[in-house]
Amino acid sequence: MRHKRIHSSLFVTNREQLIKELKPNSLALFNSNDTMPTNADGTMAFRQNNDLFYLTGVDQENSILVLCPDFPDKKYREVLFVQETNEHIATWEGHKLTKEEATELTGIKTVLWMSEFNSRFRHMMTMGGVEHVYLNTNEHYRAVVKVETRDARFIDWCQKNYPLHKYERVAPIMSKLRSIKLKIEIELLQEACDITEQAFRRVLKFVKPGVKEYEIEAEYAHEFLKNGSRGFAYTPIIASGANSCVLHYIENDKICKDGDILLLDVAAEYANYNADLTRSIPVNGKYSKRQKEVYNAVLRVQRAAMKMLRPGVVYFDYHKEIQKIMEKELLDLKLISKKDIKDQTEDKPAFQKYFMHGTSHMLGLDVHDVGNMHGKIKPGQVWTIEPGIYIKEEGLGIRIENNVVIGKNKNFDLMKNIPIETEEIEELMNT
Ligand code: GLY
Ligand code: MN
Ligand code: MN
Repeated sequence: MRHKRIHSSLFVTNREQLIKELKPNSLALFNSNDTMPTNADGTMAFRQNNDLFYLTGVDQENSILVLCPDFPDKKYREVLFVQETNEHIATWEGHKLTKEEATELTGIKTVLWMSEFNSRFRHMMTMGGVEHVYLNTNEHYRAVVKVETRDARFIDWCQKNYPLHKYERVAPIMSKLRSIKLKIEIELLQEACDITEQAFRRVLKFVKPGVKEYEIEAEYAHEFLKNGSRGFAYTPIIASGANSCVLHYIENDKICKDGDILLLDVAAEYANYNADLTRSIPVNGKYSKRQKEVYNAVLRVQRAAMKMLRPGVVYFDYHKEIQKIMEKELLDLKLISKKDIKDQTEDKPAFQKYFMHGTSHMLGLDVHDVGNMHGKIKPGQVWTIEPGIYIKEEGLGIRIENNVVIGKNKNFDLMKNIPIETEEIEELMNT
């Protein structure tokens, strides 16, 4: 693996936390993701199911975790099924986990080959007094799932074969657990942020008028991969000039021009954990007066947000407050007028023309991580803080995004070392 070994204690603790949330006489099952096809015999790079990874650290396709904490025979309380490996498979597909390696990685003593799944699963479902069966499905509020997932296939199969067990949703429990990060997870997120920082500093030296957006993408990719990341945490946004106002611009195929702003929403993954960084820099190494004015307005909003995103606050209340602060900045920038505010409707507030997205989201194994957006913010959560101002008529978009751990007494900015002041960015670009 490319990343440092994660101690199995993380996965052991995560499973213990989950078991506490299950009803008595329960079984919970987690599938790996499928390897997704492209065309002909091509496949996309494998991306593990984040819940399975969180509970086991297994980063291999065709794997299943079954937890059955009240099973009379201890051997069946935690069972991991993995793809059988042998010399032939090793030759063609490369190394897969042996049973011993799987135990060392996960802390699970009973590791079986997938070929045994049907018979062992029947044993667990019928011999251990199991009443409740917790199955997994993607319940992310923004998910749009058009393909049939392995989880969906399994739910069908399981309910057909065991129709009279009581089925339960495990996703709400996983969302609650995963939203609070343990120390090891924070360290992995910090590593993702540190690799991102290194690449950003490299890009500051690289950018100049005439470079292509995808050349900048290549700089990031090289620095990420060189440092043990598997690559981009999400499709990078490298948006120069007017593209900086397109929130999901991902073509990255234009030439950066003298005088333009360059919005960089680019970050690394590390051990499946994600950073999420945005900086907005001047292509020629010097912010114009107007760029600086707008930049500093966004920076003030971000700094106010850092103080407000605290335990006990509800995200949507905080977002409303940030919108008010942003409204004042937009007035000062003369982008909106008092009359615009007087004429606005609840559906169409004046600020929305220039600030139209959320201020923050949770971050972790998913970039838009699971967790209750309507609940009170809690210590141990990791959030982004990412206000922006997008002025289409000037071709000027500025977003500044940092990743912050919510602390009991104060927040900890995982990106505190990443250049953010205009003066520091200019200095680094010109030396
Ligand atoms: N890069 C994705 C986001 O900022 O939400
Ligand atoms: Mn973000
Ligand atoms: Mn981002």
